[in-house]
Amino acid sequence: MNLPTITKPCQLAPQWHFHNPVRVHFGRNCRRRAAAELAATRCLIVTTQRGRRQLSDDPWLGPLAANPDHLWVDGISENPDVFYLQGEIDRLAGQSFDAVLAFGGGSPLDAAKALALALAEQCSGCQLRDLLADPTLYRQARPQPLYAIPTTAGTGSEVTPYATIWDHQAKQKHSLAGPAVFPHAAFVDPALTDTLPAAITLSTGLDAINQAAESIWNQNANPVSLDYAIRALQLGLPALPPLAAATVGGGENNRDNLAQCSLLAGLAISHTRTALCHSISYPLTAHFGVPHGLACAFTMPAVLRFSLQAEDGRFSETARALLGHRATPADLEQLFTALHTQLQVGAKIKAQIPSLQALLALQKEMITPDRAGNILAPLEPTTLERILTESWQ
Ligand SMILES: [Fe+2]
Repeated sequence: MNLPTITKPCQLAPQWHFHNPVRVHFGRNCRRRAAAELAATRCLIVTTQRGRRQLSDDPWLGPLAANPDHLWVDGISENPDVFYLQGEIDRLAGQSFDAVLAFGGGSPLDAAKALALALAEQCSGCQLRDLLADPTLYRQARPQPLYAIPTTAGTGSEVTPYATIWDHQAKQKHSLAGPAVFPHAAFVDPALTDTLPAAITLSTGLDAINQAAESIWNQNANPVSLDYAIRALQLGLPALPPLAAATVGGGENNRDNLAQCSLLAGLAISHTRTALCHSISYPLTAHFGVPHGLACAFTMPAVLRFSLQAEDGRFSETARALLGHRATPADLEQLFTALHTQLQVGAKIKAQIPSLQALLALQKEMITPDRAGNILAPLEPTTLERILTESWQ
C-alpha cells in the first residue's frame, strides 16, 4: 500500500538556531506552583494598583502577597514611564530581595524587567536612561530571578528578552533587549484573564495575534518559530471574536486558547522579534494613545498583502494549517481582512486619530530598523504611505 501524498513544509533558512531559557508553566491554577515556589522568598512585587488588589484577593497568591517582608512597586500604569521607574529604582537602591514577581499585563511585566535589571549589582550607578541607550551596559548583568505571571493574553512578555519603556514627555519609545532581560519562569494561568473587560481582551488579543503574524512575515523565522506562530493563530483567531463580543466571561475554553496563543506567539517573537506592524504602531501609541494591540492590528491586512510578494512557501503553509489543505495565501489575506472588519479595528483607530494626514505626518518615526527591517519584502520609498493609506481606507 502506498503512502498518501504528504504536504511538504516550506523550507526556511537552511541553518538556524533557537534558544529560550524561560521555564514555562501553562494551565488553570498553575499559579499555585508559583505561590509554592516563592513561599519563603523575599520578593520585589511589581504590579498595578488593580493588580495588587487581584493578587491580594487571589486564593493561591493572596497568602504569598500578605508577607510583610516583600517590597512593592504597585503604581505601574499603561506603557510604563522611564521617569516613574527611575524614581522607584532610586527608592529601592540598596534594599535586598531574592526574586522579582511580575504580576499583570505587559506593562507591569516590562516594568519588572527594567527594575530587575537596573537594580542588579552589575548595573549599580547606571541610570535607566543609560541602560536604554546602551545595551552593552547590561550585557553581563545577572538580575534576581524574575517570575512572570501575566493577567492578560497578551504581550507574551513572560517569555521574551524584551521590555518596552516609554518617555512620555518626549513621546518616545525605548527598549531593553538581550539575554539578561529574559524572565526566569513564566506561569500562564488563563483563569487570571476570566474577568478582563472586553476592550482589554480585544486589544491584548490583537497584540498576540499580530505578534504571531509578524513572526511569520519575518526574516528571522525558522521552523521552530513558524510552528509556534501557526499554532498560536490556530488557537487565537477563533477565540478572540467571541471574547471581544462578550461583556463578561466569553467561555473558559476561549480564554484558555487565547492565553495559549499569547504564550506561543511570545515564544515565536522571542526569537524573531516583531516587524513592520509593530514599528508603525509605536508613534500611534505615543502621539494618540492608541492601545498597543489595536495600533499593531491596524496595518495587519495591508502588511500581509505587501509581504505576499516575498512568498517562499510560508504563507501557503500557514493558509493550509488554518483553513484546510486547499487554502491559498489569498484565502489567508481574506481571513485577516475579515477579522479586521469584524473587530472594527479601522473604526476604532479612526476614533483616536484625527485624519490620514495626521497619520502620514508620523512616517519618519514609524521606521525603526530593528523592527521594520525584519519584514520579508524590501521596503520601497512609497511602501509605508501605501500601507497607511490602504489601512485607513
Ligand atoms: Fe506587541
